[in-house]
Order: sequence, then structure tokens, then C-alpha cells
Amino acid sequence: MCRFFTRAEAANIRAMKSPRRSTVKSNGCHVAINKRRLLRDLNAVSRIGIGDHGSVTRLVFSIKELRSRQFLIHQMRQIGLQIHIDRIGNIFGRLNGANPKAPAVLAGSHLDTVLHGGKFDGTMGVIAALEAVRTLKEQKITLPSPVEVVCFVGEESSRFGFSTLGSSLVAGQVHAGDFANATDSQGAKLEDILASLGIYRGNLRSLRRNPSSIKAYLELHIEQGPILEALKKPIGVVTAIAAPTRFKVIVTGQADHSGTTPMEMRKDALVASAELVVALERICRQYSSMEKGRVVGTVGAMKIEPGVINAVPGRAEISVDIRSITATAKNRVARLVEAKILAISRRRKIRMDILPIRKEDPVTLDKRLVDLLKECCEAKTIPYEIMPSGAGHDAMQIAKIAPAGMLFIPSRRGISHSPLEWSDPEEICLGTQLLLDAIIRANNEKI
Ligand code: GLV
Ligand code: MN
Ligand code: MN
Repeated sequence: MCRFFTRAEAANIRAMKSPRRSTVKSNGCHVAINKRRLLRDLNAVSRIGIGDHGSVTRLVFSIKELRSRQFLIHQMRQIGLQIHIDRIGNIFGRLNGANPKAPAVLAGSHLDTVLHGGKFDGTMGVIAALEAVRTLKEQKITLPSPVEVVCFVGEESSRFGFSTLGSSLVAGQVHAGDFANATDSQGAKLEDILASLGIYRGNLRSLRRNPSSIKAYLELHIEQGPILEALKKPIGVVTAIAAPTRFKVIVTGQADHSGTTPMEMRKDALVASAELVVALERICRQYSSMEKGRVVGTVGAMKIEPGVINAVPGRAEISVDIRSITATAKNRVARLVEAKILAISRRRKIRMDILPIRKEDPVTLDKRLVDLLKECCEAKTIPYEIMPSGAGHDAMQIAKIAPAGMLFIPSRRGISHSPLEWSDPEEICLGTQLLLDAIIRANNEKI
């Protein structure tokens, strides 16, 4: 059945019971998803962009990513959802409610991945939302308000360094000039790709969705960290999302002969960069405890020129990503890192330019939706943990224009952005069932 599941896991999936019909209680908790269908679709999407060791690569605006979006559109058509695709390619599949004009409950995530990533990051949230809405349709359940399955374009920053692209545009959070430093490793400019889609500095706001058209946004996601597994809890209810401050540092030294240039006469761009990498780690460690804001900092990409064994590196380009749940702690660390860059540059007499990419504030999720998600777990006596998210998500953008809530399921060994990313199929099904319960409750209740 499933290429990604082992034989034993596939057998377990086949044996799963999937009641096709069941009575609807007012809180919706007796409407059951079809587990096999959910895992079948998840497996099908995971094959798009599959690479070595079970890795998945669907970089934003790549053919593979487009194919995954086509798969979703096809599934939405089969269900008979009303499909709307905006200019950047965000997909909204709508199941109308008794009052088609009422604000909709949205559920979804993203289908793009990092380079050599896993099968579940984002994908699970989209396919879970699809299964939830398909269940409603199949069981002929008409809710008061519309429900929409959403797939946002370009949540991952792996290609352009710019995260939550589609949801930021929907939330009206992108401003002229924000893409100025967003280029991929081949030199392609995000601004040029957007222009080819008819999106320019002057019309960025045209993709913004009217906030009054959204009653709530719900996102199911893998935790991407080790907490739930350590606590042996199958569900996390998310309260806040850490947001990044990101910039590039361009180090301009002097390319030179590696055999003839004396050590004291060099302007080695890579050595200056290495100093910065170590300094970033040291500064972030000073602020990594919970009380100090749990700041994390990463240099995840580095380009060296000329990049040959017999030349002193003349130019380096490195990416810096600093995150925290606390804006003040993150800003303090960013300032310390910037001061360090200046100090390295002066001492080494080497040019180091900082090119800002994005600076965002951490986001608190909607308190009423946190309670609603807790109630969904409690109704089924499912243990849950209340927790913040260290990873970024589309929910952090949508939270700026509408109530947003998130559920996590455990990640095996906490691993994500890796082919080793894995979540238990039973927990995927449980998360999806709770997402459906939450969609129904959010639809019926006052938010
Ligand atoms: C998204 O996965 C992120 O980088 O947090
Ligand atoms: Mn991710
Ligand atoms: Mn994600």
C-alpha cells in the first residue's frame, strides 16, 4: 500500500477501522475521518519529489511543488469543493455552509518542503484538512458556516530565505522592498518570479484577504521538536509561535594565492565568517534558557568564493537566523550579533555588510481557540501539552488578521527538516480527527 511505510506499518494501516457513517453530535465529536484514505493521500503526496534515503524536496515554485499543488486541486475537484487559486498560487477549497456568506473556518498548511526534507512538515496539515472536509461532505454534514481547505505557497525559507510567503501576502504582511535581498542559490530573484505571476511592489496588498471573511484558522502540524515524545503525550496545543530575525552577511575580503600569501597579509572572508558563526553560537547560548527567552541562532547556509583548494577565500555570503518566543530577547541577541560583526570587521580590516531579510515579532495564538482545542482533547480524554512552537508556521501570519489555533502531534526523536522526519500513523489520524472536531466546534461556537 504505502511506499513510505514499512510492511508492518502498512499492514496496521490496512487493519485500521474507518467507520463510514456515524451520528453527528452537536459538538461534532462523533464524525469519524477515514484513516486509510488519509494515509493513502499523505503517502501519495510524499512521493512527489522523493529523493535519496526517503527525502522529499519540493522547493517553492519548483515543478515538484507545482505537482503537489495539482494533486491537491485534483482531490478538491473530486470532492466538489469550490476552488479559488490566488495569483501566487495559494489554494482555497471551499465547502459551503448553511449560510454561504458567513465567515469561513479555514484549515490547512503548506506543501512546499526544505531541500531533502521529510514527508510530514506542512503536508500533513493540508492533507488532514482535506480529509476533514471530505468527511463532512461524504457524511452530508452541513455546518452553519463554510469550511475551507487551504494550501499556502512557500512557507519554507529554504530557497529564498523568505518564509511564509503565501500566508504573509494573504495577511497583508508584505511591504515594498521586503524581497529586495531574496535570491536563491542560483541567483534567481524572488521579485522576478513574483513579477512573472503579476505580483509587483505596487500591488502586494491585492492578495490580502478580507479578515471579516475568516472566522478561524486551524493548522495541524508535526511538532518538529522532542517535547511531546519525551512527555509521552500525543497532542500539543500551541499557544505562541517564535518568529525569526533573518539577515545575510556579505564578507568581502581578497582572493589570493594560497601558497604565496603570508598569513599576516591575508583578508580571508571565510575565517572572518567562521568567527561570526562561533560568536553567534556563544551569544545565543547565553540567552538559551527559558527565563532568558530561549533564543536560538543558526547559520544554515554559506557560499564561499572562489571556493577552490588553492585560493584564499575572497568572498563569503552567510545566512543568519535568530528566533525566540520573546521579542525583547531576540532583539537583544540580534543587536549583540550585529555589534560582533562590526568588531570582527574592524579588527580584521575586512568588509562585512548586513543585508536584512526579515524581522518579525513572535505571535500569540487565539486564547479562545486554545481553549476550544483543549476541549476537543478533553472530550476524547486525550492527553495534551500546552506549548509554544519554536518553528515558524503559516498560522503566525494568519493570526495577524483572524483568530488562529494550532495542534501538534509528536515527531519521532524530535527530528524534522530531514529525511528522518517521522510521525506515527495512529497519531497522524488522531491529530486529523481532532482537527475535524475543532473545525466543527469552531464552526458552531462563538470565537
Ligand atoms: C519552518 O519550517 C521554519 O523554518 O520554521
Ligand atoms: Mn518546515
Ligand atoms: Mn511547516
